[in-house]
Amino acid sequence: MRQSTLEPEANNVPAHVAIIMDGNGRWARQRGLPRIAGHQQGVESVTEVVDACARKGVCYLSLFAFSSENWGRPRQEVDALMLLLLDYLTSQRQKMLENGIRLRVIGDLSRMTQGVQQALVEAVQATSAGKGLTLVLALSYGGRDEILRAVRRIVMQVQGGKLDPDRLDADAFAAFLDLADMPPADLMIRTSGEMRISNFLLWQAAYTELYFTEVLWPDFNLEELNKAFADYYQRRRRFGLTDEQLQL
Ligand code: FPP
Repeated sequence: MRQSTLEPEANNVPAHVAIIMDGNGRWARQRGLPRIAGHQQGVESVTEVVDACARKGVCYLSLFAFSSENWGRPRQEVDALMLLLLDYLTSQRQKMLENGIRLRVIGDLSRMTQGVQQALVEAVQATSAGKGLTLVLALSYGGRDEILRAVRRIVMQVQGGKLDPDRLDADAFAAFLDLADMPPADLMIRTSGEMRISNFLLWQAAYTELYFTEVLWPDFNLEELNKAFADYYQRRRRFGLTDEQLQL
């Protein structure tokens, strides 16, 4: 299997990058186009950013592709987004296999149609041996919902006598989350000038470095990703400790 060629970075690349891809609708409106045209162009950005992260040696890239709240959008837009997702899975499949990209999906998939669920399961299985970038698509996802589902599973285990509540620490709790075996997000990028995390990766974002840009998602590209990384490399991550402790 061919792995993507790694481009050495001067700094340690963030192991886990999370992106809230916002601004597709505004991008389309500025051009007098239907909203779906913005989503279509957004897929081009997805492709460019996935390739770039794979080349840079990022281990995990989590993309907020469809939130639990997005189900409330007009039916036509929801259907169009699902079609774009299916197209993406088909059109990128070969490239994912060639580049060792492993697909993962998080969220409440039970709300998707059988067809979409099946396509996702197939794509996840087909790419499961990938040794390169893990691409996490957050679909029908909400951070609170992820935590609630974890709590339900924990309660069941406690009630069944399989888990001692006194042994439940942060690591044990995280093992029940959708992203159980992944490191927390190092860098979270949000496009389109909005400065909030909108229920994305709530648990995993506790010490995430946040990067906000005015650029709309369909205009986000390698150059913009490089700017986000350059900003991240300037950050001093203290994880609640003091500068002096970190120098030891
Ligand atoms: C937010 O922009 C974007 C979304 C709700 C969908 C994101 C989807 C894609 C980029 C395409 C499909 C993804 C994959 C992985 C194939 P918005 O519509 O809220 O923009 P607005 O705030 O300007 O209206």
